[in-house]
Amino acid sequence: MAEHSEKRNVLLGISGSVAAYKSAEVARLLVSRGYNVRVLMTECATKFITPVTMEAITGKAAVTTFFEGGEVEGIGHIQLADWADVFVVAPATANIIAKLAAGIADCPVSTVALATKARLLIAPAMNVNMYMHPATQSNISIIRERGAALIDPEEGALACGWQGTGRLADPWQIFNEVRRALSVQDLSGKNILITTGPTREAIDPVRFISNRSSGKMGVSLAREAYRRGANVTVIHGPVTVRVPTKVKTIPVLTAAEMHKAVLEQAFSVDPLPDIIIMAAAVADFRPKTEEEHKIKKADVDSAIKLVENIDILAELGKKRKGTQPLLVGFAVETGEIEDLISYVRGKLEKKNCDMIVGNFAHEAFDLDTNRVWIIDKNGRQEEVATSYKSRVANKILDAVRKFEL
Ligand code: CTP
Repeated sequence: MAEHSEKRNVLLGISGSVAAYKSAEVARLLVSRGYNVRVLMTECATKFITPVTMEAITGKAAVTTFFEGGEVEGIGHIQLADWADVFVVAPATANIIAKLAAGIADCPVSTVALATKARLLIAPAMNVNMYMHPATQSNISIIRERGAALIDPEEGALACGWQGTGRLADPWQIFNEVRRALSVQDLSGKNILITTGPTREAIDPVRFISNRSSGKMGVSLAREAYRRGANVTVIHGPVTVRVPTKVKTIPVLTAAEMHKAVLEQAFSVDPLPDIIIMAAAVADFRPKTEEEHKIKKADVDSAIKLVENIDILAELGKKRKGTQPLLVGFAVETGEIEDLISYVRGKLEKKNCDMIVGNFAHEAFDLDTNRVWIIDKNGRQEEVATSYKSRVANKILDAVRKFEL
């Protein structure tokens, strides 16, 4: 079994909140990625979302009672408790949190929570005053002290009409936290800086030069590094892909802005990054001047003069001390595999990197999949066949781990 592979049995506890509809999305995200999901519901939860909905998504009957045939397929609460690798309660109301703190076992969710040895994740959802109430806060402290992790509620408009903290975390955030709880934390304590996406170089107030990068490869690296326990910072150009909420993000637009942000994050923050992965497709050129007014068609020929942008990766290679931080670059090429590999080797040396990931433009840009060649300065070379960028990201992180960090 690869070191980063995950356990897969997720118990999803749903308690009675308007946000219960979002647990259908949490279950769907997990099931669609191959996790085994079993659902436990309080009686109150069934008033907000039906067990039938949860059964349709998970393929297994939701457990709503341990009586009158509620023990589905002969699986009692102890078997379910033992089966689970992680138990996530989402949404968790003030009431269920109080029961978990007090050790009350009067419904499927609270009973299994008491019986399971699995990691407990709690995603609260309630009115802001209920959430901030000292009773709720002290109950949360109690269950955290016992090892449960809190998936912080968000701030915003609440179903009750109030504004404040109490909105259930985004399903994607819950999904990412479940995956992290299930994973070997082999990057725990490592600080990783990742750049991703394109940059935009303005020509005039209307137009810019950019490229087809979507940022998906870098975001996959960020997600997987976070899942494996790293502290992650992402500097990204204009992208639409979703970065995990717990990852620090620094948005930039131009290569110059990315250059400034990367240097700052590489050498002037505490703690300094242990690893930098430059997955961004930084524009190699920018217009010499940004015109103040829109360039007229007739003037285009003479108007756009290009100048080269600073090579950020090469500068990091020059400025770093020894191999601190570990430097990983990308090389996007067109043409033959032999040429790609020879370009990658050349860039390894020229930019003083520890590792370069080579890929082809037509297999990488804006796709969910990629095929890459991972080549490091110690002569290691690995081809990763076309697969989802999450798998490619894990292969890259595995290769990073082969270095002394
Ligand atoms: N890169 C960078 N700053 C730039 C251009 C590229 O830091 N101004 C980084 C990219 O993030 C990537 C690596 O350098 O990690 C390689 O980029 P690529 O565009 O493939 O190659 P170049 O080095 O720019 O060389 P060429 O265009 O000649 O292939």
